[in-house]
Amino acid sequence: MKTVLITGVAGLLGANFSKYLLNNGYNVVGIDDLSGGFKSSVDERVDFYEVDLKDHDDVDRVFRSTDPDYVYHFAAYAAEGLSPYIRRYNYMNNVVCSANVINACINFGVQKVIFTSSMAVYGEGNPPFTEDQPQTPEDPYGIAKYAVEMDLKLAKEQFGLDYSIVRPHNVVGTYQNIWDRYRNVIGIWIRQSMRGEPLTIFGDGTQVRAFSDIKFYMEPFERLMTEYSGETFNIGADKEWTINEAANLVAKVARDFGYEPGIVHLEKRNEVHTAYSDHTKAKNLLGFQDDTNLEETIKEMFTWAEAQPAHEVAYFDYEIEKNLYSFWKK
Ligand SMILES: NC(=O)c1ccc[n+]([C@@H]2O[C@H](COP(=O)([O-])OP(=O)(O)OC[C@H]3O[C@@H](n4cnc5c(N)ncnc54)[C@H](O)[C@@H]3O)[C@@H](O)[C@H]2O)c1
Repeated sequence: MKTVLITGVAGLLGANFSKYLLNNGYNVVGIDDLSGGFKSSVDERVDFYEVDLKDHDDVDRVFRSTDPDYVYHFAAYAAEGLSPYIRRYNYMNNVVCSANVINACINFGVQKVIFTSSMAVYGEGNPPFTEDQPQTPEDPYGIAKYAVEMDLKLAKEQFGLDYSIVRPHNVVGTYQNIWDRYRNVIGIWIRQSMRGEPLTIFGDGTQVRAFSDIKFYMEPFERLMTEYSGETFNIGADKEWTINEAANLVAKVARDFGYEPGIVHLEKRNEVHTAYSDHTKAKNLLGFQDDTNLEETIKEMFTWAEAQPAHEVAYFDYEIEKNLYSFWKK
């Protein structure tokens, strides 16, 4: 039986993929510090370690004692818009933690590591983004992902560490943290609906995104364990939504669940206006097919969210407050 170690096992991707692997005969070791995910999302069958990846001794201990064949490195703090205000935290959590994981993969003979980068590496780019487009990240989160991508390339050349990179965008589904005020727009709207608050939109809402349900990622992720050495794949939905359209859809589903949310427009945020990717490569090589029905996914998320305990919606300890958006001021 193959042992697969997943970092970020309590998060959206980790919780869903660990269940998939467990149901398909793998032994799963999970690491998470529960900074952005919940213990209740970790499947009972996971050999779970509550470890902060910043602590390299702890990371090494887990690798030494569990001897994983493959590693999926999902752990990160993926609050792109917040990242300029938490640069140190962003680079510690998303770059230094990744270095600790890569070191351990090399030192403990892991056969392959699969890393989730992000569409953020393309910056404003030229949508739909293809994998070979120049990488021009526009915020510290995207820069962190870009740095880890380059580091993996080097680790393969110098130490023979095999890897694949996935660049997802706007993934949604159950086990998503909907209590974080800084990220996951659909999740934020679901929480706001349930709390009787209006759905908030930054700026005029004409921004364009494409939302995909996590459930369509499972088989392609599994295939990457043994296929396509050193390759990078975009993964996500082809159907684009304006933020206004997506908010109206969440409001519609919310009404089906007995909520009556309004919609308010807040100060414009410094963000890429139109961002979506081309997924031809993942379709052709990994058999990826996105069949997201966003309305159905949002319904599933509402049903799941209503069964969860309320969590705190905390403010971050900002490292920079200069030019902080009014809606994030404490
Ligand atoms: N969800 C998306 O739309 C999306 C899009 C592009 C890229 N990604 C990337 O995919 C990966 C998974 O995303 P997700 O949506 O599942 O995020 P998530 O926040 O739901 O899960 C990440 C998990 O990592 C854990 N974690 C964070 N820092 C840690 C640390 N220092 N030590 C140990 N655990 C730590 C968190 O507690 C959380 O449970 C991330 O790398 C993210 O950048 C996600």
